[in-house]
Amino acid sequence: MNAVFPGSFDPITSGHMDVLTRAAKMFGQVTVTVMHNARKQGRHLFTLDERLAILREATAHLPNVSVDSFGGLLVDYMAQQQEGIIIRGLRAVSDYEYELQIAHLNRQIGEVETVFIMAATRWSFVSSSMVREIASYGGDISEMVPRASAAALRRKHADVYAEREAEQRARTEG
Ligand code: PNS
Repeated sequence: MNAVFPGSFDPITSGHMDVLTRAAKMFGQVTVTVMHNARKQGRHLFTLDERLAILREATAHLPNVSVDSFGGLLVDYMAQQQEGIIIRGLRAVSDYEYELQIAHLNRQIGEVETVFIMAATRWSFVSSSMVREIASYGGDISEMVPRASAAALRRKHADVYAEREAEQRARTEG
């Protein structure tokens, strides 16, 4: 059976990677699909192409994982897939209410099943938005995201990281 792991992935985190790696052991093929909405494009730090490039690099070692994107309703995307199941990760009880609503709606409007995978507790506090926030100040996000995301975040905030590293060097030298 095949599965789809949908999300914004702005950018993919270690929590997403944990859920994805475990899903890849349970399903024959897993497609990580960036769901995008042209009208909401400006709300993201990374463009769709950047998010896809990060995902391709971060998942290159997983042979049964592929990367895709779709700009519409998830149920319409699922209708194009064969025997598709939606995978969503749950970090904490706080995720559950929102995810429960979406899972029920997707089953009602598209007869699609959702399977939840509990992210490892190690990542329960990690979200793309928090990682973006930390990186915007030049903070250390290297543990919270795969290498491809960390490199892309550092490139996005190259000036902030350079400034912070210069300050740190000055402190240790002075
Ligand atoms: O990573 P996110 O932002 O939590 O992912 C949410 C996502 C993209 C999976 C969800 O918003 C979605 O499926 N969007 C596509 C549009 C859609 O089908 N909306 C109806 C869900 S009720």
